Amino acid sequence: MTGLYDRLQVLESGRTLGPEERLEAARKPLLAWYREHARNLPWRENPDPYRVWISEIMLQQTRVEAVKPYFERFMRELPTVRDLAQAEDDRLMKLWEGLGYYSRARNLKKAAIVACEQYGGCLPADYSQLLKLPGIGSYTAGAIASIAYGIAEPAVDGNVLRVLSRVLESREDVSRQAVKKEMENLVRRVMPEKRPGDYNQALIEIGALVCVPNGAPRCGECPLESLCLAAGKGLTGEIPVKAPKKERKKEERTVFIIETEDMAAIRKRPAKGLLASLYELPSLEGAADGQSALEAFEIPEKLVESEEMLPEAKHIFSHVEWHMRGIRLRLSGLPQWEEAEGKPFFVKKEELKERYPLPNAFAAYRRFL
Ligand code: ADE
Ligand code: SF4
Repeated sequence: MTGLYDRLQVLESGRTLGPEERLEAARKPLLAWYREHARNLPWRENPDPYRVWISEIMLQQTRVEAVKPYFERFMRELPTVRDLAQAEDDRLMKLWEGLGYYSRARNLKKAAIVACEQYGGCLPADYSQLLKLPGIGSYTAGAIASIAYGIAEPAVDGNVLRVLSRVLESREDVSRQAVKKEMENLVRRVMPEKRPGDYNQALIEIGALVCVPNGAPRCGECPLESLCLAAGKGLTGEIPVKAPKKERKKEERTVFIIETEDMAAIRKRPAKGLLASLYELPSLEGAADGQSALEAFEIPEKLVESEEMLPEAKHIFSHVEWHMRGIRLRLSGLPQWEEAEGKPFFVKKEELKERYPLPNAFAAYRRFL
């Protein structure tokens, strides 16, 4: 690296730029690329604050293709913040059924109530006020502020962290909050005042389509290739650096389909904890048998017409895994059950599908109903 020509070459390939300069240089190609390649997504058609908010919450932990139909139905059924604030819990959970992470939906309603009480049914056009709403963290606050209100605030999620740490060759652990904060501050300093929503979405879109989470990034199609240090040095296999997650706890359960011809037993889960207040098929801890279910659920033996083993199934939550076996108990009539909180009760199978949110964890057994 001696002569002027060499240094210019290096500058041109972007090797000597500091992080801010590098991201400043990335601004134009990023926006130009986005204009050409942005996907037409339902929430982009009319990015009002409510639509941006709901879509961003759904898109946390859930793929775009899976979100689309949920988003469209949600907007049809609860078209305004007020409708959401007034939605009955079971109806809201039914709209969310299958998306998982149900606390997201519960927080949506809580935040909608605050928005009605404090902001006249609108989401505040202010980053720090958005941040105070239940379920809205820095990413979502930045997305709503920038995409719906044109406020220049960063929206840095895991995908954006991957792109940025590769471009900047940062080996900091992207699962650390402090690292995310640093990236947010950096983006805040370099992002454009004009079209901040497009800028954030361009980073998100690169993370989704080009600098992909699984498998090799498509650097040849990336507008940032000439600026990207990880691509230039062949380090995309090592960056981003991410601390390994804690191992999930494994729980064994036996799930029962207790049914007659047209009815099936379900129960409501406790108001706290995993899948709070949703419905479920009755189950027992560990590897239980039909006999133990008769005792636990107070079913007279003479009602049992047949007992059938169902396939094993597994469901993975963020912190736990359920390893399930299933047993179907076909009854000739209904047992005399008392109504009590947390106790199973019978519903018409038809009604179960329409009214009671039964989470995906039970999908393997739901299909036998
Ligand atoms: N993932 C998270 N936010 C997104 C958005 N606004 N568009 C597409 N994918 C996303
Ligand atoms: Fe990701 Fe490759 Fe683009 Fe760098 S050049 S941001 S590694 S896709």
